[in-house]
Amino acid sequence: MTDTLSHWDKVYQSKDHAQVSWHQDHATLSFDWILAYTNKNANIIDVGSGVSILADNLLDEGYANLSLLELSFTAIQTTQERLKSDANKVNFYNENILNFQSDTQFDLWHDRAVFHFLTDEEDRQTYLNKLNQYLKPQGYFLLATFAPTGPKQCSELAIVQYDKDKITQLLGKKFNLIKTTSETHLHPNGSTQDFNYFLFQKI
Ligand SMILES: C[S@@+](CC[C@H](N)C(=O)[O-])C[C@H]1O[C@@H](n2cnc3c(N)ncnc32)[C@H](O)[C@@H]1O
Repeated sequence: MTDTLSHWDKVYQSKDHAQVSWHQDHATLSFDWILAYTNKNANIIDVGSGVSILADNLLDEGYANLSLLELSFTAIQTTQERLKSDANKVNFYNENILNFQSDTQFDLWHDRAVFHFLTDEEDRQTYLNKLNQYLKPQGYFLLATFAPTGPKQCSELAIVQYDKDKITQLLGKKFNLIKTTSETHLHPNGSTQDFNYFLFQKI
């Protein structure tokens, strides 16, 4: 995992953050779905938040209980500097999701392009155990991954592509699929990447 940490920290130290393939100017579907399914006091965690603009977008809407979890300290520092005094309104966890421990249970767990890096079955199960442990009953799991028509790698690392059947089977009976849609993400270099978005509710 040290290798994973150094990979991501190097990415955020060496690359223009607006040029990384997953960059968004606005958090599009994630933002729309969070607004549609939660209220502004909801406890929301963005897992593998990177330098995503999602937190800024939600703070602007008045969301008051945001947590960002991210492996790379450089990404956390960048986010804190960008948010300025608003950073004080956010809980930051600089850690690996596979080791996550908290006293909080969340109303919504957001993951855009993080779970899909777990190519190892044991790691996937560890992640799903954390999700089960820290998501409230009736809480939402909003997941975005590369689609089967999308790339096979992200940031030069192998990923697992998901469609509705594959992810629904993996999550099992404790989660109901509320909705799913695809999104063609525009890479800053002008190419496109097919994502699938899934919104699950925990039973
Ligand atoms: C492709 S980026 C997506 C970033 C962000 N979710 C977004 O949509 O802009 C993946 C992010 O997940 C982080 N990450 C990867 N594996 C992780 C892990 N096991 N625990 C926590 N963060 C992780 C990386 O450091 C990176 O910031």
